[in-house]
Amino acid sequence: MKRNILITGGAGFIGSHVVRLFVTKYPDYQIVNLDALTYAGNLENLLDVKDLPNYIFEKGDITDETFIDQLFGKYQFDGVIHLAAESHVDRSIMDPLAFIRTNVMGTAVLLNTARKHWKDNMDNKLFYHVSTDEVYGSLGAEGFFHETTAYDPRSPYSASKASSDHFVMAYHHTYHLPAIISNCSNNYGSHHFPEKLIPLAIHNIKNNKPVPVYGKGENVRDWLYVNDHARAIDTIFHKGRIGETYNIGGFNEWKNIDLIQLLCRIMDKKLGRPEGTSAQLITFVKDRAGHDLRYAIDASKLNKELGWEPSLQFEEGLEKTVDWYLSNEEWLQHVTSGNYQNYYQEQYQKR
Ligand code: NAD
Ligand code: DAU
Repeated sequence: MKRNILITGGAGFIGSHVVRLFVTKYPDYQIVNLDALTYAGNLENLLDVKDLPNYIFEKGDITDETFIDQLFGKYQFDGVIHLAAESHVDRSIMDPLAFIRTNVMGTAVLLNTARKHWKDNMDNKLFYHVSTDEVYGSLGAEGFFHETTAYDPRSPYSASKASSDHFVMAYHHTYHLPAIISNCSNNYGSHHFPEKLIPLAIHNIKNNKPVPVYGKGENVRDWLYVNDHARAIDTIFHKGRIGETYNIGGFNEWKNIDLIQLLCRIMDKKLGRPEGTSAQLITFVKDRAGHDLRYAIDASKLNKELGWEPSLQFEEGLEKTVDWYLSNEEWLQHVTSGNYQNYYQEQYQKR
């Protein structure tokens, strides 16, 4: 079946994996990747698929109503997979309005444009919004986030994502826009921008720089390999029920400090350093403001209804990730030159 699909945010971390999966797995689909190429967007993420005949890149901003309207007119999309966002919690603490603009306003512009272009025929259309488990807030030592857990966002990032989720469901209920949301836990893997914990730690360990761990490193995250997230998005896009929310997670909780210790051991092995060398770089720094203690996703609905499950054990995924970073030195150099240095200074110098 031929389809015209808009993927937003496809030159970022998760989006590039989703684009790669769709253009290679579905040669009959035309995939349009729309991305503003902010600091987090990088066309080098898609060098291997950029010349495929069913792939098109469009540079543009999701908050630009006129541009988005023209894009829908030009390609007559029947599906949208929306990933474009400001995605880093620490940056949302520095500059919340940028998150409201892109994550709330940008999502609303996309919804409104899809509604306008699809209003006479909603058959076989789908607006799929890729969201986060952070909308549910923070857990104590016990329990999981379920699809029915009440929203309780606590950072400007998660509040902006929660707001965008509410707009998606409001458009579904009010205008019958066919929509689905998924809320995923922390991803890791290749092409992850080194502002986030795992790639930042890999980069610093490699360069013998301090590895900053917020607070006491007691916070817990539930890690999922990015290719497994992309597979889940594929499954939900094709088999998910309209109007539903699906939680995606790895049943793979790690305290930050334990994760960093494991990463240090892997790095020692890969770099041929005596065991314990990299761990000496661990440096406890001032905690993140409003730092959520624990995230843990119950992904059993997705498993029971649609048969998805994670494919990799964490240690295997982490080794593959380290291997990718060590053999893609040029990628890392490109993304850490220029503005990255300014961000790093501002974020870490006073901690
Ligand atoms: P990312 O920061 O790596 O990529 C975001 C992409 O969006 C970039 O390519 C950027 O250029 C683009 N973008 C930003 N603002 C834009 C705008 N105004 N117009 C058009 N493009 C714009 O993010 P990611 O980690 O790949 O996350 C992708 C999506 O998945 C986000 O919606 C995020 O909330 C969600 N998510 C991420 C994780 C995770 O662990 N990284 C987990 C769950 C959900
Ligand atoms: O849960 C899903 C979310 O996961 C996504 O929605 C976000 O887009 C994504 O960025 C991620 O958010 P986190 O804040 O959990 O990820 P981050 O990699 O920034 O931090 C992971 C944990 O590590 C968190 O407890 C904060 C801590 N941390 C982070 C950095 C950058 C440190 O201890 N030191 C650091 O330098």
